Formats: sequence, structure tokens, C-alpha cells
Amino acid sequence: MKSLSTINRRFFIKGTGVAALVGTATLTGCAEQVGSEPQQIDNETITPYEKVNFDAGYNRVGTNSVKFDMIKMFNPDNQLDVGMGIADMDFRTLPQVTSALKKRLETENWGYELPPLDYSKNIVAWNKRRYDADVPQGNILNSVGVLDGVLSTLKAFGKDGDRVLLLTPNYSSFFATIHQANMYEAESEMIRNDDGRYVVDWDDFEAQISTGIKLYILCNPQNPTGNCWTADELRRMGDICNAHDCLVIADEIHCDFVTNGNKYVAYASLGDKYAQNSISYKSTSKSFNLASHRTGYMFSHNRSYIDKVLKGGHQRLLLNIMGMIASNEALKHGDDYIDEQNLYLTENAKYVEKFCADRIPIIKYQVQEGTYLAWLDCRELSEKLDVETKASELNIYNKANNVTATDFFGVTSIKTYTGGSYLKKWMLDNARIDINPGENYGKGGDGFMRMNLATNRATLLKAMENIEIAINNI
Ligand SMILES: Cc1ncc(COP(=O)(O)O)c(C=O)c1O
Repeated sequence: MKSLSTINRRFFIKGTGVAALVGTATLTGCAEQVGSEPQQIDNETITPYEKVNFDAGYNRVGTNSVKFDMIKMFNPDNQLDVGMGIADMDFRTLPQVTSALKKRLETENWGYELPPLDYSKNIVAWNKRRYDADVPQGNILNSVGVLDGVLSTLKAFGKDGDRVLLLTPNYSSFFATIHQANMYEAESEMIRNDDGRYVVDWDDFEAQISTGIKLYILCNPQNPTGNCWTADELRRMGDICNAHDCLVIADEIHCDFVTNGNKYVAYASLGDKYAQNSISYKSTSKSFNLASHRTGYMFSHNRSYIDKVLKGGHQRLLLNIMGMIASNEALKHGDDYIDEQNLYLTENAKYVEKFCADRIPIIKYQVQEGTYLAWLDCRELSEKLDVETKASELNIYNKANNVTATDFFGVTSIKTYTGGSYLKKWMLDNARIDINPGENYGKGGDGFMRMNLATNRATLLKAMENIEIAINNI
């Protein structure tokens, strides 16, 4: 069965007629099926276009989800109304992805298998079509998610004990990845403007690189601040890095998420001198909620950089076939899905901005430029709750009473709190939501919380109302 877009989108729409575009039936409560029966055109059966209903959300409780089930597993005595921690989404994925995976399941043989033959072509096409960015097809490498590629690069280009520069606040797992590479983070704390946007402290950025740092991880758009870096900002970073032979490791996993018509600029599209001294990392995992497939890709316009990563031991020619099929379908058919999702997520962000301003002004928040992650300024709330004192009181109590916690790997230790993790606990105990403490994101994160907005509006409203009740009860 061929998919809609490989045949002829215009033909299909003409064939279904206006009435079909209204759409009535819902599938598993999560999608509107536009068009009733499969169409027979030129001996091809075409699946009716299914528009995903983001407002329906997706119930993930009981699916082994990290966001809901893992949090509940570690906090069995708590009621969890809304998981808003880890960066994935509570939406149905692109229906074409599911169809293609179901079709593959029908072949009951799982021997060695090539990736879909048009996969790299579709990676190139997606980046060109959506961002006018050229990806050199022959220089694409697979990776088991994005961090796998970043780790391989650190190991190939650096050595034990090297320092890796991060603009902070920055994605928490970069710190772990840098440590896995036996390296250390160097943090250049950004400056927060009055409008909530973060800007680079250029003097500090350059001073740090001048000390001999050769590896810089760029996060574009930036998790957790939401910055969509402008071309000027990226060029300035690139010029400093190039002048000091510092490699730009451009993690652009969040590129498909922009709010309010903001723009993502691909770092490698800025010109040859930037492209030649960088490696870029992407995947469909955030964009289409495919993170469990562990499928990503990386590329560089500089062939010697790709060879260096390969020589460093990064051999991922064959990934799990289901992840590659899923990614391929998403790249082929996902444009409308991403556009509609961005509109939905922008409205979510605006909703939370207004809610905070009108009903819980103790928390400050401005809609971010990119990503679906809200960076909430909870400094006033932290002060009101006196989180530092509360955390140290709890630590004394837990030590005296041998109150322990067991982590995911089964390691048990005395349960300890910081100001940020106390605030996280407070949110779970009092607002029944799980969100991440800003201190996990490095310098500049204290007193902030990162809240994942990628859920349906009704769930978001529930979370916000829960916070409002909790704050009113202080
Ligand atoms: C900036 C950034 N990079 C990488 C990742 C993780 O990517 P993966 O699961 O593909 O390794 C995330 C997930 O939240 C992220 O926000």
C-alpha cells in the first residue's frame, strides 16, 4: 500500500471531496479520520488522511512510561495527576508511522535487514524542505538517539580530562554524557534579560574557550530556556570557536518546535566555515514522539570529521529496523503533523503564560521561542516556601531516621534534598504534578523549574489548577 504523499496529494483531496475534510469518526479517541473509505486510485489503495486530534491527548499510564509510570514507581505513596518532567509528548504519533510498523510486523522474519532505502534521502529532503538546510547525504551516520552521537564525538575528538563548554542553563543529560566520556563541563552562564530571554555572556564565552577548550556543545533551540538562536548569535559563537579550533557539536534535536512563528536556524547552514567545523545531531524522536525507538542521526559537511567519529568506534550501520521505518515515515509524511502540533503547543504556552500572570503571579513565565518546555521562574515561590531550610531539615531527619531511596539501578542511599529537589517534592506532594528542578540544568538554574507542556489542554489546565490550589494553601 502506497502512502498518500507518494502518490499525489492533490489527486487524493480531489477524490475525497469537501465533505470528507470535515471528518467525524474518532479512532481510539485520539484522531479524526478525514475521509471514510480507503480510496482506490490507479490500482493503489490509499489510506485516508488522519488528522491527529491533539486535544484528545494520550493516556500513557500503565504503558511503562518514564513520565508517568516511573515517577509513580519511585513515589508509590503519592498521587500523580500529571507527569510533566521528561521531554516527550502525550499525543498520538503520526498515523502513517503506526501503519508502516504494523505492516512490517506482518513479515514474520527478523533477519538482518537494510534500513529503508530512501531513509537518508528523506533526511536530506526534510531538512531542505523545512529549513533550506543542506545535509550531505553521504556523510550521515546513524546513532542510537542523539546523545549516543554526542558521546561518540566527545570520545573521538577529545581525551580523558578534557573540558567541554556548555552555555547554561542547559540540558541536564549533557552533563551526564560529558562525564561518561570522562570529561568535565565548563559552564558559561547566560544572562537573563528582563523579558525572560537568555543571552550569551560573550566575554565569558570567549574567555573560557581561550583557556584551551576544544569542544563546545551547542543546543539549538536550547533546552531548557527555549532560545532559538539567531543567525547572528550562531555566527558569533562559531567565529569564536573557529578562531580557537574548538569543535561545534550542534545538538538540534528540538529544531522542529518553534512557537509564535519564531525561526530555527540550522547551524551548518550558516556558511562553509561554520559547516566545516561542526557536526550536527538530529532525530525524529522529539518531533513525532518516537523516543522509545532510539533512532537518531548525525552529519557533518567535513568528511574527515565523520571519518574521525567512525574511527573512534562509532559503527551504527544497522539500527533497530522499527525505529528506522518509523523515522522514515515521519520524514516523508510529517509536515502537516508538525505544523499543527506547533500551533497547538504555542497555544499551550500562551495559556500557561496567561494563567501564571492572572492567577499565580508568584511564578513568572514568558512563552519561549522554541521547544515545548516552559522555564518557570519559581524564585519567589522558593523563597516563600523557604526551600533551602526545608531541605536541610529533611536531610537531618532522614539521616537520623535512616530514610532511604533506591534508584533505577537498585542503589540504595539516604534520601537527600537540595532546594530544587525539595521544590519538586513540594509540587508532587501538594500539586500532584512532576516537574524538573532548574538546578539540574547547571549554573543559573536555581529557583527555576522546567515544565513540559506537550500534553492536551485539559490535562494542562488540571496541572495549572493544581498548582494554584497548592500555592493558595501555603
Ligand atoms: C537537547 C537534547 N538533546 C538530546 C536529548 C536526548 O536525545 P536522545 O534520547 O535521542 O539521546 C534530549 C532529550 O530531552 C534533549 O533535550
